[in-house]
Amino acid sequence: MRIAISTGGGDAPGLNAVIRAAVLSAINRGWEVLGIKRGYAGLLGEDEVVILTKDSVRGIAHLGGTILRTTNRGNPFHYPIRRDDGGYEEIDRSGELIENAKQLGIDAIISIGGDGSLSIAKRLCDKGMKIVGVPKTIDNDVGGTITTFGFDTAVSTALDAIDRLHTTAESHDRVLVLEVMGRDAGFIALHSGLAGTADVILIPEIPYDIHKVCEKIAERDRSGRHFSIVVVAEGAFPKGGATSTLGPSLPGQARRMGGVCEGIAQQIAEITGKETRSLVLGHLQRGGSPTGYDRLLATRFGGAAVRAVEDEKWGHMMALQSPHIVSIPIEDALRELKRVDPSHDVVQTARETGISFGD
Ligand code: F6P
Repeated sequence: MRIAISTGGGDAPGLNAVIRAAVLSAINRGWEVLGIKRGYAGLLGEDEVVILTKDSVRGIAHLGGTILRTTNRGNPFHYPIRRDDGGYEEIDRSGELIENAKQLGIDAIISIGGDGSLSIAKRLCDKGMKIVGVPKTIDNDVGGTITTFGFDTAVSTALDAIDRLHTTAESHDRVLVLEVMGRDAGFIALHSGLAGTADVILIPEIPYDIHKVCEKIAERDRSGRHFSIVVVAEGAFPKGGATSTLGPSLPGQARRMGGVCEGIAQQIAEITGKETRSLVLGHLQRGGSPTGYDRLLATRFGGAAVRAVEDEKWGHMMALQSPHIVSIPIEDALRELKRVDPSHDVVQTARETGISFGD
């Protein structure tokens, strides 16, 4: 048996722990393991395919990033190719990828990625490839699994930032607006905001009214709390408005989101007259060592993925359905993006403890 592992999409803390667990579990069964570099680029002649041994994965479980590297521009069905005139066109290179995998004697692939990589895995399975998926994203927006590794680490990083902002905001009687990642899902903002006792949390699932946000800040002022912490998900938008994007993406890439916090900070300063500062936490949320929770979840996913290969669960992905790791059809997980349910107890508790969602 010869399997290959690939990591695709944005990196998330815990990828190396999945790779390590999968490599060791496979080698301990007497299988051979290859690592496809940079998403599927290694199978398209644009990067390498390397042999992974026990030595290759020694001492990596606690490291952020991925030893296989990754890309969010490598969809083989829409591969961006630079034309002579400098423009780009997208071509379907899936046939070439399947042929190259065959040439390398790859029997099955473990594809670790977010919704984009998982939908590519599903399409490749439909064309006859044998793939099992492992969900990965700091955004926690993949359905069918209670959570994905990387999310807990991102929340911890955001929480640390909120704790630090509290002390400086209070010292200066300022409003501090912190923007966190999450694309169209508000989980990082909600969880870090509630755990960090923010005063306002703005998420894409609950469009906000800036006047309501300012009312909350003014009410705190009147009660002697002269500072406020506002945690904003990058995908948050005002009622009747649109999400903020950061200019054009590179060919093959999803639209880049972000930048919403600066406008919100300006509006708060104008309406409340309070000194306001904003901060985009950005890729700090993706870097660094995975938390213990993420390391364990990633390791469990890696082991379960090898068992799924053994059981020939092609087109399935690993999912945490506590207390077990199960395998579910990728299409079920991707049917809809997982987003914050505004009636969820986490939102309710946030409201009941005085946090405003600006609605
Ligand atoms: O999906 C993970 C994520 O970190 C999002 O939260 C964020 O919008 C995006 O990736 C950033 O992508 P990039 O690394 O391409 O800027």
